[in-house]
Amino acid sequence: MSVAKKRYKRVTVKSLVEMKQNGEKISMLTAYDYSMAKIVDAANVDVILVGDSASNVMAGHETTLPITLDQMIYHATSVVRAATRALVVVDIPFGSYQGDSKEALRSAIRIMKESGGHAVKVEGGSEIQVSISRILEAGIPVMGHLGLTPQSIYKFGTYTVRAKEEEEAEKLKSDAKLLEELGCFALVLEKIPAKLAQEVAESVSIPVIGIGAGGGVDGQVLVVHDLLGMTHEFNPRFLRRYMNLYDEMESAISNYVKDVKSKDFPNDEESY
Ligand code: KIV
Repeated sequence: MSVAKKRYKRVTVKSLVEMKQNGEKISMLTAYDYSMAKIVDAANVDVILVGDSASNVMAGHETTLPITLDQMIYHATSVVRAATRALVVVDIPFGSYQGDSKEALRSAIRIMKESGGHAVKVEGGSEIQVSISRILEAGIPVMGHLGLTPQSIYKFGTYTVRAKEEEEAEKLKSDAKLLEELGCFALVLEKIPAKLAQEVAESVSIPVIGIGAGGGVDGQVLVVHDLLGMTHEFNPRFLRRYMNLYDEMESAISNYVKDVKSKDFPNDEESY
């Protein structure tokens, strides 16, 4: 049974605010390529995030830091071709927006112009407010990202839950307010206590989408490869696996190898 309250032909940044106001939870998932984005879009996911997690999932890097702006644009372009309903949000990669607001604007413009994405996402609060404002002034919708921000992993040192201590929680709350005031259309909260995430979601009018942030927020996001069980070494508590695709794919491919070796494939019906 569908739990959507209103049918959207194309989800926009406005629709997301409307969903929050109507109490409809927002679904968001990553995709990095055309084939996966087609499936995600057909399943009525509201927002497709072309995440810089492509650096881990697609390229096998240990962190999200190495992925380049050109590579993000390549992934985003493929996703945009597939998405007919979902809003497509594209991560601006590490090193393309932090230090220099002009560069931030240039990066955001390149993403919008070259990929056709509908919005960009950046990690951080007050430290990057000048960059965020500049991008917003150009008419580009910006999604914020607070809590565990993987582009700062070498500052944190680990991927453990963030903002458990008072000082960090207070900073996160004031950053969330700031992002709302600047004009961000939504906010991702990653790996923070559920109580804090709910408090933030209730204190801002923009949608708050959580990953490892409990059920009291306005929507949820996961990396699609994790949800499908393709990345079987990654087992955080917040992850719900809906399939074990790694094992199923490995078994299917092993069967193919066996059939080729035994000359069972191709048979007469599979030949011309
Ligand atoms: O890059 C990504 O996939 C993300 C999500 C985990 C929110 O930023």
